[in-house]
Amino acid sequence: MGRKLLLEHINEPGIQTFEVYRKKGGYSSVEKALKTMKPDDVTEEVKKSGLRGRGGAGFPAGMKWSFIDKKSEKPRYLVCNADESEPGTFKDRYLMEKIPHILIEGMITSSYALGAKTSYIYIRGEYMYIVRILEKAIEEAYANGFLGKNILGTDYSLDLYVHPGAGAYICGEETALLESLEGKRGNPRLKPPFPAIAGLYACPTVVNNVETIAAVVPIINMGGDEYSKIGVGKSTGTKLISASGHINKPGVYEIELGLPVEEFIFSEEYCGGIWKDRRMKAVVAGGSSVPILPANLILTTAKGEPRLMTYESLADGGFATGTMLGSGGFIVLDETASIVENLYTFARFYHHESCGQCSPCREGTGWMEKILHRLQNGHGKKEDIDILVDVAKKIEGNTICPLGDAAAWPVASAVRHFRKEFEEAALVHAHKELVA
Ligand SMILES: Cc1cc2nc3c(=O)[nH]c(=O)nc-3n(C[C@H](O)[C@H](O)[C@H](O)COP(=O)(O)O)c2cc1C
Ligand code: SF4
Repeated sequence: MGRKLLLEHINEPGIQTFEVYRKKGGYSSVEKALKTMKPDDVTEEVKKSGLRGRGGAGFPAGMKWSFIDKKSEKPRYLVCNADESEPGTFKDRYLMEKIPHILIEGMITSSYALGAKTSYIYIRGEYMYIVRILEKAIEEAYANGFLGKNILGTDYSLDLYVHPGAGAYICGEETALLESLEGKRGNPRLKPPFPAIAGLYACPTVVNNVETIAAVVPIINMGGDEYSKIGVGKSTGTKLISASGHINKPGVYEIELGLPVEEFIFSEEYCGGIWKDRRMKAVVAGGSSVPILPANLILTTAKGEPRLMTYESLADGGFATGTMLGSGGFIVLDETASIVENLYTFARFYHHESCGQCSPCREGTGWMEKILHRLQNGHGKKEDIDILVDVAKKIEGNTICPLGDAAAWPVASAVRHFRKEFEEAALVHAHKELVA
């Protein structure tokens, strides 16, 4: 059994309540931090832990915290990114729904480290039932002296708010999220300045994912050094993976980073293998915005080594033969799945969710959707395949925010690894012309 740090008490009856959570040792990181540590010591422990942001990019959390402008006279903010709209990713929802106090506890300890007096949880609009769960947990934390004025009798005071978005994928991008939180349309901002310098209301701000903030709890409890011993190399700690698709046991799993991909997919402890005894065809490893890999490449790197569930191993081979851990949305496709159809579904999503500020993204995602629609419905031509790749290339790296890249990467990789399927889809059109 792998070690559990975030989901350890998930099956404990009543763990959603303050009372049970506290009985299981909850809020001890707040006590330890506020009573025995200086704010910078907390940041130091997070640095030592090697924790990398769990929202997708994997940027070291402690380093991000240390960029916050402490010389500024302005207030500082911690904003939790609970927008979670990436197709195939549902781990934050699970954590907030099942064990909401771990997020509240992480928010308090992290806000203390950053010197934030007001913090926000920005949550996707579709998660209204979780808004209520979090609001109840926050109420309980206030009632028990963990939020509000002079927490636990110390000098530190914090107010925490939950803010639901209207349900747009782009509001998960950190600067779009901040715009939305300020009451504006959620359009990404140009960077720099980064949020650490000018974020919410132009004040120093850290935006972190739900899981990143929750992970601060075990880090402070066990110490950064101890946490860094879990995992492999620069992929330390545990990671929540949302597993879906053609597997026997879809769900959210907490794994120790470094677990072999093969074990994750086929062992009974995790996904339990491919359903209906079929063969595995492909995997989207990190949510819909990462390159898709065929079965052989997800299990083994191009060098022939077993692929591990780490940031480095999944990326081994670059985009030619590798992918990314991303947000940990693991979508498994069996031998009967159509790559063209799946890609069309992704393309529709990105076109719909583009905010429209940059023409390569606004127009390009639409063109990709149209071409894939043609191929999917037997109207596509062989030339369409190269046009599709060309459009993806022209979007990549040419936009304000990474949504453009996120739309392009799956397309380029799908054609690279499954070109034959695209050609077969185009043959339907050629055949129709011959018959006519
Ligand atoms: C289009 C788009 C959507 C995103 N959606 C999310 C999201 O739902 N949740 C999240 O934590 N990060 C999301 N991100 C990444 C955030 O911009 C940011 O990197 C992250 O919240 C930082 O937290 P971390 O350092 O803890 O990973 C998204 C990025 C892009 C480009
Ligand atoms: S890349 Fe797309 S979503 Fe991002 S700012 Fe440009 S148009 Fe908007």
